[in-house]
Amino acid sequence: MPELLLLTNCKQLVTMAGRAPKRGRALAEIGAIRDAAVLIAGGRIVAAGPRARVERHRAARRARKMDLGGRVVTPGLVDAHTHLVFAVSRAAEYEQRIAGATYEQIAKAGGGILSSVRALRGATDAALLSSARARLARMAAHGTTTVEAKSGYGLDFDNELRTLKLMKRLGREQAVEIVPTLLAAHVVPPEYRVPGGADEYVDRIVRLILPAAALEGLAEYCDVFVERGAFTVAQARRILAAARALGLKPRLHAEQLSRMGGARLAVEVEAASVDHLDHANDADMRALARSEVACVMLPGCSFHLGLAHYAPARKFIEAGAIVALATDCNPGTSPTLSLPMAMSLACTQMRMTPGEALAACTINAAYSLGRQGRIGSIEAGRDADLAVWDVEDYREIPYYFGVNHCAMTIKRGKVIHKTAA
Ligand code: NIG
Ligand code: FE
Repeated sequence: MPELLLLTNCKQLVTMAGRAPKRGRALAEIGAIRDAAVLIAGGRIVAAGPRARVERHRAARRARKMDLGGRVVTPGLVDAHTHLVFAVSRAAEYEQRIAGATYEQIAKAGGGILSSVRALRGATDAALLSSARARLARMAAHGTTTVEAKSGYGLDFDNELRTLKLMKRLGREQAVEIVPTLLAAHVVPPEYRVPGGADEYVDRIVRLILPAAALEGLAEYCDVFVERGAFTVAQARRILAAARALGLKPRLHAEQLSRMGGARLAVEVEAASVDHLDHANDADMRALARSEVACVMLPGCSFHLGLAHYAPARKFIEAGAIVALATDCNPGTSPTLSLPMAMSLACTQMRMTPGEALAACTINAAYSLGRQGRIGSIEAGRDADLAVWDVEDYREIPYYFGVNHCAMTIKRGKVIHKTAA
């Protein structure tokens, strides 16, 4: 007999039910129901909707009851872009930037991503596991139930594969679902910083790192950082074609600090997502709006780097693009574990409505990970991935910025986080 659980007395249930992904006006159609209940069997949702209707369900009588005390329930949040596994913070660079140094100046001087590469290469498995585990627990405490995680601080065969293997192990031993992405093309590693070295490193990714990751089943996606000081569109095209041939779907970091053409490449290669887009122009936007590529916006980066410019989310939504939101959790540009914080920034800085922001980090984020039929919405047949919020209304989730109001997080029907009260 599967375990039956009835969550009842939800003041408001935000289902995100309906067609996925959500584009244009549909992004604001969040399917909110007042005085609701959710019936779960064996980790899956059996029924969700008005309380009286769900409680009349035959199985509801036999279910263990959990009274949510009038709280708000949403789908478990889906963080579609993180650099989860890293060794140490870069708080000293944070201070340098406050004093006036730019992110790119610090990178050119050998800091930035390369300092995280040195730290990861020197860190033990145990240290990397324990810091990543702590991050996952904090993410879950902020309502997150699924996390995309990229490698990219190893930048050599052993350390890229080691990072992916640690992610696989984390996925087995704790409850937050991890979606692994190979980002060997994050920047050119120090050993290859010689004339012609970048292409040689691309060669190494294509011939050795990608095939090994694919053969061992360690990655679902392959990502490339297209930027000045990282990789060109041509190099990214080559890497993503090789990845596709090995069964790894493309994602891209594009138009973050400058416009390099990564957005158009994402359309060309039918990427699952194109992320950042701060400097995407109107032509990029129109091409993306006509495509099936998810546009993952990461307002934590502009905030943490102290930039006034944010990705043009409002225009993208109105053009009909598939807009998603993520934390970009990483030690250099966005050291946050909180999707509610990303939502707050999306609302005040990118003029997304609270409902749109919530849809962007649930159903549309799930779509960007190819999981919209299983997670990201609260509907019969979906995984019982839920977040319970100590608020009166879903709009208060981004409204109360900087303070965590997540009271409980449920992954496949199991409580994985609960506040003391
Ligand atoms: O998504 N843009 C490239 N990668 C990260 C930054 C990584 C770092 O600085 O460590 C990002 O912003
Ligand atoms: Fe990133």
